[in-house]
Amino acid sequence: MTIRIAPSILSADFARLGDEVRACEEAGADIIHFDVMDGRFVPNITIGPLLVEAVKRSTKLPIDCHLMIVEPDRYVEQFVKEGASMVSVHPEAGFHLQRTLTMIRKLGAQAGVVLNPATPIQVLDYVLDDIDYVLVMSVNPGFGGQSFIPSALQKIRDIRGLLDARGRKDIPIEVDGGVKAANAGDVVRAGAGILVAGSAVFQGNDYRATLGAIRESADKALSI
Ligand code: DX5
Ligand code: ZN
Repeated sequence: MTIRIAPSILSADFARLGDEVRACEEAGADIIHFDVMDGRFVPNITIGPLLVEAVKRSTKLPIDCHLMIVEPDRYVEQFVKEGASMVSVHPEAGFHLQRTLTMIRKLGAQAGVVLNPATPIQVLDYVLDDIDYVLVMSVNPGFGGQSFIPSALQKIRDIRGLLDARGRKDIPIEVDGGVKAANAGDVVRAGAGILVAGSAVFQGNDYRATLGAIRESADKALSI
């Protein structure tokens, strides 16, 4: 399995967003993770579809929109039209999860379900045919720079077990929150395939070194 790393631009310097995104691509990132917050589903407000278009102009990498907004189905089309190729939604944020996932796919993007730390994995049971990836939150969403919640490791293992048992080894698990080189190995060993890293990447100056360290610890864990 090839591990993909997705820098979260939430911790980037927004005054130089194009340069930051280009620097991530040059440093070896696989995906750009784009955190959308509305001040209702989470206690913070960030960025919207207009910025997806700006990021799209700065990179060829896929843009992964993590929607932390209520009633996401009202905005999904706009995000895909502006350039999102992956869109994930929280089941608690809308009324009809399956409909929203179908909508995302019909628009031509990959659809993901995001599970908060306390959200049971059973929410996935009847939407396995409607998703392309699962996003496991290892912090409560809303802010960058929080600490990884250890119970997320068991949750990743449980979801990996569920997906494999249901014949969906192809569905990757993405992990978001507090991921860095020091825990990337544990996360990958538990069954994750996509690692989101915000503060770990942007707090340093050498993005290539940070992404390399995360990848090295992930690859090492896989080879054991
Ligand atoms: C949190 C966001 C994350 C955040 C991760 O609500 O969904 O994507 O940017 O940041 P770090 O890696 O700093 O925890
Ligand atoms: Zn996120």
